[in-house]
Amino acid sequence: AQDVKDDLEEVLYSAEEIQTRIDELAAEIDRDYADKDVLIVGVLKGAVMVMADLSRALKSHVSMDWMAVSSYGSGTKSSGVVRILKDLDADLMNRHVLIVEDIIDSGLTLSWLKANLESRGPASVEICTLLRKPEAAKVEIDVKYVGMDIPNKFVVGYGLDFAEKYRNLDCIGILAPHVYE
Ligand code: PRP
Ligand code: MN
Ligand code: MG
Repeated sequence: AQDVKDDLEEVLYSAEEIQTRIDELAAEIDRDYADKDVLIVGVLKGAVMVMADLSRALKSHVSMDWMAVSSYGSGTKSSGVVRILKDLDADLMNRHVLIVEDIIDSGLTLSWLKANLESRGPASVEICTLLRKPEAAKVEIDVKYVGMDIPNKFVVGYGLDFAEKYRNLDCIGILAPHVYE
């Protein structure tokens, strides 16, 4: 089989660089939630790697739950249509909720999701995203924890897919245009 990394135009962040930033975010979260029980909510499927590494970098007790929403379909452009494919198991009443995402692109998914979770009676709802594309923002969202701001290019790896592929890359890279053109 071909090496997955051959489809990258450029590696933006190596596995080691990602882990270093995740460890820093975890330290901030540990500090901010020192006296609170937090429920971390991973947004399937992209946030699986961030959840796995962030949760293990946290020193405090956390509960973990998952939601599946989809906004992209199989293309490279955000459609703005958010669907719940799997809802949370947890009751959010009086809980401190931290949504964990791989990327904020247009912001449409998270602005919808944050409002949806806020309507369920939680004590607080904050957002942690590994990546954010400031140039692609279509809505303003208040994000408490951001790993890295990146250019407006199509990135894959470390959970991020193109047509369900490349999620298993240990690094984050820019997809070579020949792959999708
Ligand atoms: C991707 C990504 C974010 C969202 C960001 O998920 O993982 O959840 O899009 O885009 P936005 O800010 O423009 O809304 P996707 O819908 O592709 O589902 P997936 O996580 O299963 O890949
Ligand atoms: Mn996603
Ligand atoms: Mg996707």
